[in-house]
Amino acid sequence: MDGNGRWAKERYLPRVLGHRSGLKAVRRSVEFCHQNKIEFLTLFAFSSENWRRPLEEVSFLLSLFQKSLEDEVVKLDDNNVRFKLIGDRSKFSTKLQDLIQEAETITHGNTGLTLTIAANYGGRWDIVNAAQQASLNGHAKLSEEILSQYLQLNFAPEPDLLIRTGGEVRVSNFVIWDLVYTELYFTDILWPDFDESCFYEALSHYSGRERRFGRAGVEQEVSMKYIADS
Ligand code: IPE
Ligand code: MG
Repeated sequence: MDGNGRWAKERYLPRVLGHRSGLKAVRRSVEFCHQNKIEFLTLFAFSSENWRRPLEEVSFLLSLFQKSLEDEVVKLDDNNVRFKLIGDRSKFSTKLQDLIQEAETITHGNTGLTLTIAANYGGRWDIVNAAQQASLNGHAKLSEEILSQYLQLNFAPEPDLLIRTGGEVRVSNFVIWDLVYTELYFTDILWPDFDESCFYEALSHYSGRERRFGRAGVEQEVSMKYIADS
């Protein structure tokens, strides 16, 4: 979710107001997924590198997150949304950790959209953490299957589509393990401007792609079969 700061700058507003506006775009996206029966939405809200930002901005982001949890979990629960958090939560205040845990517990049994917030998350950390957990659990020899059981997104299928707003064309240490076959979509739209029509555009772009997972295309496969049969 990139571009909050630039959105604010364009309006001669402080960066933090860009984040506040970004929260509205989060609500819109959750609503969009709920209405369009999208089962998993994972939002990269705060990376492990974001601690390097000015203290004032970091505090604002964390308090915005805390306030959203306090105010909106009931609404999520009413809409059958399951809330999850991925990332190293041990760096957060006890209060915030408790709210996260509470949100996960309350919405645990919900069967609609799974809304995952990546906070203090880094893709490399995720992989190392998974390897450590696997080893602590007595796996002397690792395999892809074993490691994936310990990754943060172990409750979700691999993502179909990654949308990055704000014009940068990079993955920036997001869920790097899980993204290997994910379709990537980059847009210049700044996150606070990302609305339903932008989401539809990303989905229509996605539906036009052919996903081969390393195989040849359908036509090539048919002709290979023909060669094999003849
Ligand atoms: C939001 O956008 C990302 C968060 C950490 C919440 P930015 O704050 O990175 O916005 P830009 O890139 O400065 O425009
Ligand atoms: Mg940015």
